[in-house]
Amino acid sequence: MTADVSIRPLAGSLGAELFGIDLSGPLSDGDIDTIRSAWLDNLVLVFRDQTLEPQQFLDFARRLGEPGRYPFVPGLDEFPEIIEVKKLPEERNNFGGIWHTDTAYLERPPTASMLLARDVPAAGGDTEFANMYAAYESLSDGLKSVLSGLRGVNCSALADVSRTREDRTSKDGPAPIDYESIHPVVRTHPETGRKSLYVNIAHTARFDGWTEEESQPLLRHLFNHQVKSEFTCRLRWDVGTLAIWDNRCALHNPINDYHGHRRLMHRITLTGDVPA
Ligand code: SIN
Repeated sequence: MTADVSIRPLAGSLGAELFGIDLSGPLSDGDIDTIRSAWLDNLVLVFRDQTLEPQQFLDFARRLGEPGRYPFVPGLDEFPEIIEVKKLPEERNNFGGIWHTDTAYLERPPTASMLLARDVPAAGGDTEFANMYAAYESLSDGLKSVLSGLRGVNCSALADVSRTREDRTSKDGPAPIDYESIHPVVRTHPETGRKSLYVNIAHTARFDGWTEEESQPLLRHLFNHQVKSEFTCRLRWDVGTLAIWDNRCALHNPINDYHGHRRLMHRITLTGDVPA
């Protein structure tokens, strides 16, 4: 690691702040290696005071992967890979306001998501994250063995998550299409080789080959288990805070506790593999 780079954990299970790298400047391959390895180790990596222009944000994202498109909200006019995650003072629902991993209903969900805070309330609007390696590893051998053969049916149209998007899709975008993909309930991270729990309450409707009624008791158990406080960290944003998280092994939940205030983030997702 470069001499003036330091890392401070956000919590015991996941998340870290990285200090000493200015993301607006030219980044050496060594800087990118440092960032990549800290991100893989901590799942959520946070940088403070990064007031990047959209082009600089995109340039940084391109050093880590290939920016993709989000199917439900059009991007900025000049930067279609950057979407606004926005809640206005008069709105009640926040975007993605439920525990989830991004777009698990796609065949290739993103590797990573990146958020850059542009405007934040004086208090509130924090984001929680949860470590799905830890959630998986703490299960009994018996349950691990049951889950090893299961695949989850992930849908974009589940009621709770559709509600968190509806302001954006009705005002800003075309009529939504429903997406569905079947992925292993336990996936193996292609870079770390570790296993993680890959279900989430926002998207996983049932197990493949099971009815919803049959699936619900076990899914409910997993949804409660995977967000136990000991697997989580909580990020307080300031303008210029930039976070990158690993969608393959972390969930997130933006907290909707700032009615009457504006919160605006810029988001980029990096394209990913088919979960295996
Ligand atoms: C998202 O789900 O990508 C939004 C997260 C946030 O607003 O904190």
